[in-house]
Amino acid sequence: MLYPEDAILLAPLAGFTDQAMRRACARHGCQYSFAEMIDAGSLVYGNEKTFRLAERASDEKFLGIQLVGSEPDLLKKAVEIVNSKNYDVLDFNLGCPAPKVEKKCEGAAFALHKPDDAVRMTELLVKHSRIPVTVKTRILSRENPEQTVSFLKRLESTGIAALTLHGRIAKEFYSGEPAREIISAAREALNIPLIANGGVMSKANYEVMRRESGCSRVMLARGAMGNPWLFAELTDPDFRPPTVEELAEEIRLHVEDMLDWYGEEVGFRACRKVVLEYLRGRGYPGSLRATASFLSTRAGLAELLNEVRRGPAEGFWTFLKNNPESPRQLSQ
Ligand SMILES: Cc1cc2nc3c(=O)[nH]c(=O)nc-3n(C[C@H](O)[C@H](O)[C@H](O)COP(=O)(O)O)c2cc1C
Repeated sequence: MLYPEDAILLAPLAGFTDQAMRRACARHGCQYSFAEMIDAGSLVYGNEKTFRLAERASDEKFLGIQLVGSEPDLLKKAVEIVNSKNYDVLDFNLGCPAPKVEKKCEGAAFALHKPDDAVRMTELLVKHSRIPVTVKTRILSRENPEQTVSFLKRLESTGIAALTLHGRIAKEFYSGEPAREIISAAREALNIPLIANGGVMSKANYEVMRRESGCSRVMLARGAMGNPWLFAELTDPDFRPPTVEELAEEIRLHVEDMLDWYGEEVGFRACRKVVLEYLRGRGYPGSLRATASFLSTRAGLAELLNEVRRGPAEGFWTFLKNNPESPRQLSQ
């Protein structure tokens, strides 16, 4: 079995799930991570730079690679490249709604508008991959659960090892409540593990997702951005949210890792949005967020971390007391 019962996975997140984020999540208990989606054509015709996005670090115990594409020749060549590298699972993206992917009728559009071809390409991946193949997709319709369920059954029959289902349609991108009842209907119809995805930001909505979808396996995405503690929160009964000291230290480790990996010039540009994610929802003033948006030197980073250690606005502690189930908590 690819993922045991109760497994919690880190989703592929373009622009985020690099080695530094995967390592931050692993520090807090994440055992199953994905690198961000890679376009099959870029992998085949691109340079080594494309591949660096998905390069595995020596300390990574499990890493999945995800491909998006629709052309059989490109997908076949891309699988050959994946076969020559060290991954645990190959995931096929049938859920991305980004305009540049939709334009090529790939990702979510491939599943929605050309389901027969999407199934055929999944078959091709299964046939040529030396590692297990999985699919990550979305519900196809809110009104007609059967459309999603029958599509997933066809995907299952290709021989894939597991499926991840994001409970929102492509047009919704990332907003709105996921249709947990459709995930539940799919789970009942399938024999392979179904991983539930969408809207899990805290212990409270993790429990709702598990109960209402019937899935014991869950994938975290935005909930883990700037919040690697979510893995511990969901699994450790003695979990205590980070203090401001621990928050500052985690930001430091994550940013240092990025600077090592990308070099300072690219690293500082790339880490700003990551730092903003750590600050998001934690009561820090807009001025600190502005500082993070222009971060470009180590001295600037040290100053920012000092501000983080000084803690959020006083009112945030009252907010946390009144909202004990809110995501992204801090300990005082
Ligand atoms: C910034 C960002 C990048 C994403 N990149 C990918 C990706 O590369 N591959 C993929 O399958 N899904 C991607 N997704 C979708 C997430 O994996 C996940 O399915 C979605 O965010 C729903 O889960 P959530 O509500 O817990 O965030 C991305 C989402 C976001 C917000």
